Amino acid sequence: MNIDGIHYRTIWVAEDGWSVEIIDQTKLPHEFSVIRLQTADDAARAIKEMQVRGAPLIGATAAYGLCLALREDPSDEALARACDMLAATRPTAVNLKWSLDAMREAVGKVGHNARVEAAYAAAARLCDEDVETCRRIGENGLRLIRGVAEAKPGQTVNVLTHCNAGWLACVDWGTALAPIYMAHDAGIPVHVWVDETRPRNQGASLTAFELGRHGVAHTIVPDNAGGHLMQHGKVDMCIVGTDRTTATGDVANKIGTYLKALAADANDVPFYVALPHTTIDWTLSDGVAQIPIEERSAREVTHMTGRADNGEIVTVEISAPGSAALNYGFDVTPARYVTGLITERGVCPASREGLLSLYPERKK
Ligand code: MRU
Repeated sequence: MNIDGIHYRTIWVAEDGWSVEIIDQTKLPHEFSVIRLQTADDAARAIKEMQVRGAPLIGATAAYGLCLALREDPSDEALARACDMLAATRPTAVNLKWSLDAMREAVGKVGHNARVEAAYAAAARLCDEDVETCRRIGENGLRLIRGVAEAKPGQTVNVLTHCNAGWLACVDWGTALAPIYMAHDAGIPVHVWVDETRPRNQGASLTAFELGRHGVAHTIVPDNAGGHLMQHGKVDMCIVGTDRTTATGDVANKIGTYLKALAADANDVPFYVALPHTTIDWTLSDGVAQIPIEERSAREVTHMTGRADNGEIVTVEISAPGSAALNYGFDVTPARYVTGLITERGVCPASREGLLSLYPERKK
């Protein structure tokens, strides 16, 4: 997508031909800064500290992290060590494991001398595939938005989204936001309710930033406003992303997604989840019981970072010193609250049968 007229992906190989550049998402929306990863440790740190985040981009960063590890040592032992280290960075997004498995498959049988080249080629391929996958998710989701627009001619389609599942969370386009970009580009009047998404504020800091740069109308709302908006007919549909979806259609996504799904169900608002095949964990059948939920630092709850009136970026404490805080990163929305899954192969019911109708090769 474009930033000030320049096309960016979220991750790319630098001009030196080997180091890897990313947009430091911890600095957005106040500063657009590009940083360079030179080692696998740099890549792991970028994932852990959320300089990159979002399930597909975490996977892409891990793939390039493996390239950087193999540059230093192309042995089987180093490959296994780097895979373990990168896999341990964030537990919920399954794209991370998918991408490391794909990389291992691509380089495992290649001789040590050719490994680094094979790894960079595989990581580039994986990124290109992610872009194409997201573009197709956009086309499939666009049909749903167009359907709503046709049912209310001349009026704006209001979409509510949670967290950031836009191009910043992927390599390009995004998952939940791809249909919105395509609707906007097709001239459909679309407006997005952006959940602020406490505690890291991915909605206020990232989703609002990227929608704004693309010229899409949007309004940031506190996380607890969604129910009220839906009750008053101000939301036509919800579209969110996901970090892991079970074979039965349960979806893990940023904490707070479940509450929006409950409110959508109570108010007959369609609730869609957009995802690439790399987010499906075919080994799981019960999301609530089986998806590991990341627990992050309490400091993310008790402190906030932002720009002060004098322009300085400051971090402030917002709670009484000494209060305990609990910070689960994700929650699981059971399949029964999901109207449909928007994938690169089409839209299906959130169920085993629905997913298998799009991915028949997964039938046992
Ligand atoms: O903790 P984050 O910012 O990595 O969480 C991201 C989300 O929950 C996104 O909505 C999800 O990964 C889908 S990304 C296309």
